[in-house]
Amino acid sequence: METLFSNLFVFLLATFLGIEVIKRVSPLLHTPLMSLTNAISAISLVGSLTILGRAESTLSMILGGIAVVASMTNVVSGFLITDRMLKMFKSKDKAPAKTVAGYLFPVFLIWAAANPPEGGFEGINNLVSLAYLVASGLFVMSLKWMNHPTTAKKSVIAGESAMAMSVLGSIVSIPTVDLSHNVNGGQPAYLWIVVCLAIGAIAGYPISRVAMTAVPQRTAFSHCFGGLAVGMVGTAEYFLGQGVTDPTNHHFLSTFQTSVIGLEVMLGFITFTGSFIAFLKLAEKMPTRPIVYKGQNAVNFALLSVALVCAVMVVRDPSQVPLYLAFAAISTIFGVLLVIPIGGADMPTVISLLNSYAGLAASMMGFVLNNPLLIIAGALDGSSGLILSIIMCKAMNRSFTNVLFGAFGQVQTTTGVIEERSYRSAGAEEAAAIMEAAQTVVIVPGYGMAVAQAQHKVRELYDMLSKKGVDVKFAIHPVAGRMPGHMNVLLAEADIPYEKLIEMDDINSDMPQVDVALIIGANDVVNPAAREDPTSQIYGMPIIDVDKAHTVMVIKRSMASGFAGIDNPLFYMDKTLMLFGDAKGFVGEVVKELSGGGH
Ligand code: TAP
Repeated sequence: METLFSNLFVFLLATFLGIEVIKRVSPLLHTPLMSLTNAISAISLVGSLTILGRAESTLSMILGGIAVVASMTNVVSGFLITDRMLKMFKSKDKAPAKTVAGYLFPVFLIWAAANPPEGGFEGINNLVSLAYLVASGLFVMSLKWMNHPTTAKKSVIAGESAMAMSVLGSIVSIPTVDLSHNVNGGQPAYLWIVVCLAIGAIAGYPISRVAMTAVPQRTAFSHCFGGLAVGMVGTAEYFLGQGVTDPTNHHFLSTFQTSVIGLEVMLGFITFTGSFIAFLKLAEKMPTRPIVYKGQNAVNFALLSVALVCAVMVVRDPSQVPLYLAFAAISTIFGVLLVIPIGGADMPTVISLLNSYAGLAASMMGFVLNNPLLIIAGALDGSSGLILSIIMCKAMNRSFTNVLFGAFGQVQTTTGVIEERSYRSAGAEEAAAIMEAAQTVVIVPGYGMAVAQAQHKVRELYDMLSKKGVDVKFAIHPVAGRMPGHMNVLLAEADIPYEKLIEMDDINSDMPQVDVALIIGANDVVNPAAREDPTSQIYGMPIIDVDKAHTVMVIKRSMASGFAGIDNPLFYMDKTLMLFGDAKGFVGEVVKELSGGGH
């Protein structure tokens, strides 16, 4: 009971610390943050290595081996892609004042509250415990340094060092329990550890090389591995303990431990299949529309109830293997059922939430293995996913409860008949002339810029206009595109100084003085109906007030609606010029026009 309370205390404190740290992360860096926490959620590697290395049964070795490969894939791909993204932020700005001690102090406090590791604080355990303590501090600092692009580079190094220490610590502590009867001749399975780590590392590398526009599906794919690892470790823990009746045996499962294993396995398998469906939808390898059928909620509810009944029966009597298997299978199916009714464009919120589940599952693993490092890193990851989901929901004016219960993302098609209204359009030549004559141009990028991969052409436009003495800035909406901070990463990839990227709240007061607002592939995030029309679906969603600029120009291919599926009154205003074409092609034409003319 004492262990349970101190572990709960560690979990709550770490979650609180995680929320405080993540809240301070710069919105510029929300996409790298998602990848970083994805790598940190692979802390399940610690539990996976313990299960594989102890080789206590053939089954536990197989499950542990799969878990090590899956977690290692995440570690390598997560850290490498975060590093790639952060290299794009070429800041020369001063970093904010250092407050390292302020963040490390709570880690020491949390650690002081933790239980001694298996075997107590002596001998090798003392060293391992010290390594885990340092690793916990480094994980916190890794997230803390994400609050500014200058310090963000240290984030990856801190995260990687923490992971390396965690891995070494878990390998070193393998022989601290009696292995004389294991299936590897009484020896830790070091060879298998090396083989599985190598396979995971080799598999992780290509996943880190994807194009920046494919980051959402990469993150989903990685979560899938994280969920699988947790599910495998939980299953191995169950099978190692289910026949053990001696309470002094380290595999003996108390009622509490069996319950926590149940939670771990459920969250793990839901994350596994849920993330896989999210990946398929984001990569458009399956229909992105919501898949709905009659009685869907009733089916989901019935399945969940069956799973819970199985779980309760297994907790009461851990020897009920078929019931455990049914529980694990239902959890796996439930992940699919939970995500299929949600539309493809809503997947980023889903993966952020699944990230939170993966963190929570890793924490549960820490409860079972009585390992504070797992509890802390899992809680940090869990809070990150939670905060990002809340930020996304707020910026989309959605209720968080809707997300939690999966009741969002239904087909959002245009309702009613859009009345024929007139609008003005122009070509590249006229657009170039207007911008050349302007003193200030604010560019608002959106999803269409990402789809067209127009960021490099946009950079050329920025250079050309700046050379001609025009003051060019970029207005960044927190949910423009399909990932939090999506536009920041793309513009940083194109080397646009991030000092020129101005957050929505900071630029809106300047909009009435702006000569030209150039919207490139954005729609919902500049729809004035969100501010003015209480009947609009997106009423209340914060927007960039481009309609207050002197002239508005919108680059898009047609009059079609955006993600929310609603018409945009901005397009019909007298001051608006529609510039029809693919974002990359049209911006390219404007650049050509500008390079031919003078100011
Ligand atoms: P959207 O409202 O989705 O509008 C994008 C516009 O880009 C479309 O109207 C489309 O018009 C145009 N477009 C598409 N391909 C193009 C191309 N190749 N060249 C030029 N234009 C192209 O995008 P937004 O303004 O960025 O808003 C984001 C939306 O996604 C919001 O509703 C937000 O709530 C939602 N969302 C965001 C997130 C995050 S975290 N960012 C997560 C989930 C949902 P045409 O077809 O006429 O070209």
